[in-house]
Amino acid sequence: MNEKQRLEGQQVVTANPTDKKSEKDYSKYFETVFTPPSLKDAKKRGKEEVKYHNDFNIPEEFLGMGKGRKFYIRTYGCQMNEHDTEVMAGIFMGLGYEPTDTVDDANVILLNTCAIRENAENKVFGELGHLKHLKKEKPDLLLGVCGCMSQEESVVNKILKTYTQVDMIFGTHNIHRLPNILQEAYMSKEMVIEVWSKEGDVIENLPKVRQGKIKAWVNIMYGCDKFCTYCIVPYTRGKERSRRPEEIIHEVRQLAAQGYKEVTLLGQNVNAYGKDFEDIKYGLGDLMDEIRKIDIPRVRFTTSHPRDFDDYLIDVLAKGGNLLEHIHLPVQSGSTEVLKIMARKYTREQYLELVRKIKAAIPNATFTTDIIVGYPNETEEQFQETLSLYREVGYEAAYTFIYSPREGTPAAKMQDNVPMEVKKERLQRLNAVVNEFSAEAMKKYHGQTVEVLVEGESKNNPDVLAGYTRKNKLVNFIGPKAAIGQIVKVKITDAKTWSLNGEMVEELDAVEVE
Ligand code: SAH
Ligand code: SF4
Ligand code: F3S
Repeated sequence: MNEKQRLEGQQVVTANPTDKKSEKDYSKYFETVFTPPSLKDAKKRGKEEVKYHNDFNIPEEFLGMGKGRKFYIRTYGCQMNEHDTEVMAGIFMGLGYEPTDTVDDANVILLNTCAIRENAENKVFGELGHLKHLKKEKPDLLLGVCGCMSQEESVVNKILKTYTQVDMIFGTHNIHRLPNILQEAYMSKEMVIEVWSKEGDVIENLPKVRQGKIKAWVNIMYGCDKFCTYCIVPYTRGKERSRRPEEIIHEVRQLAAQGYKEVTLLGQNVNAYGKDFEDIKYGLGDLMDEIRKIDIPRVRFTTSHPRDFDDYLIDVLAKGGNLLEHIHLPVQSGSTEVLKIMARKYTREQYLELVRKIKAAIPNATFTTDIIVGYPNETEEQFQETLSLYREVGYEAAYTFIYSPREGTPAAKMQDNVPMEVKKERLQRLNAVVNEFSAEAMKKYHGQTVEVLVEGESKNNPDVLAGYTRKNKLVNFIGPKAAIGQIVKVKITDAKTWSLNGEMVEELDAVEVE
């Protein structure tokens, strides 16, 4: 399939009518010079089959583009964005650019953005303000905005109007077009905008430069079809598309062969993995059962939607080994009424039943979650149900958020009678419980010996090493630098609310709590 065919079905405005560049010779590359996003189009779920490609290559004429130039990418948001950054870094390197870790050195700066809450977006607008002076000092610097915010019409309009220092905006479905977008940005005086509202196909052979040599992200699916009423992700990431199992298994095997110790399988809703396959019946349980047999010590997955967490997956996870006994299971609210308005499609009771089943099958499982407080019209009683559910499940950690209206989502249109002070106060009360439970869970580790995957020196003290347990607890400990990248046994001597301190030991000398 060529680029033109690939573009079919995309929302394409051939060129900015004010942009004379499209008439030039290289116009074949710039069919989508000005393709603004549309949330309405993004909502449509096409019936057409997802096509898989292995034909990505950097056009020859672009190969020297990066010679003598450096790139810098700042990443906001979730692991999906972290991993997209690794792909973009791979493309930059393929173009001959070198990486740099300071904006002052960079010839291209990209902000890979997150749209999940208003404050995530405000950080990016703030950063664009800070970077403005660099554009003045270095007129040939390219400044780009990509990631989830680019998929929003309102953001693109705001940048067009207010942040004219930006040279290019491209969307989450346009990452493979980075070479073309960069080339156009070098040639054009206009802001280059290429944001496909509808997702593209799955491209398997995009290059990547991974950030670390110990842990790796592996996408298993893209997009989300759940449309929880508060959430922007189904609009910014398109419909659910699963990668073929053989591609994922091959990637994990390669990572194992390269010495990686941990992989995290990524998707917005990994439990829906495989539902879009038409030719095979194959789900997350099947995939995990295969990956379990690969010689890689640790396998995580995120994020699980409670609704699609099936019994077969539980059975497979119960086999343990490299499948870790840590389940991140976002609940969002403990109130069935609120869950209904959120369109989460499970009740409090169904969620608790799922937790019960997982605990029965995996007795030492640890649960963590995501919670939103202050949903439109959330009552004190409904909030209390969230607190009581937290206690009932006994989560060991949680990401907690105040509801943030996202333009274009159904919840953003709801009347809301909960004042911001009340929302803030609920968040504080919830966080007090979250801290209490984390501290309680940590205390149990005192005197125990745990397995730690050592990631490097501790941030605050280079004489101390830091790493994570199977259940993702941060451990700081004294040990030899040679331990970095290894899984070692550490005896816990001190438990804090969010981390553990310990000493490396040769042998297991106590019953492990993990
Ligand atoms: N796909 C994942 C969540 C991805 S977003 C899942 O369904 O579990 C990560 C978290 O951000 C969500 O779990 C939710 O708690 C929070 N979130 C999403 N939209 C939000 C909004 N509009 N306001 C506040 N928090 C939000
Ligand atoms: Fe958003 Fe819901 Fe999809 Fe998670 S499952 S990404 S919260 S719409
Ligand atoms: Fe943010 Fe997009 Fe991830 S909105 S949370 S970066 S999918």
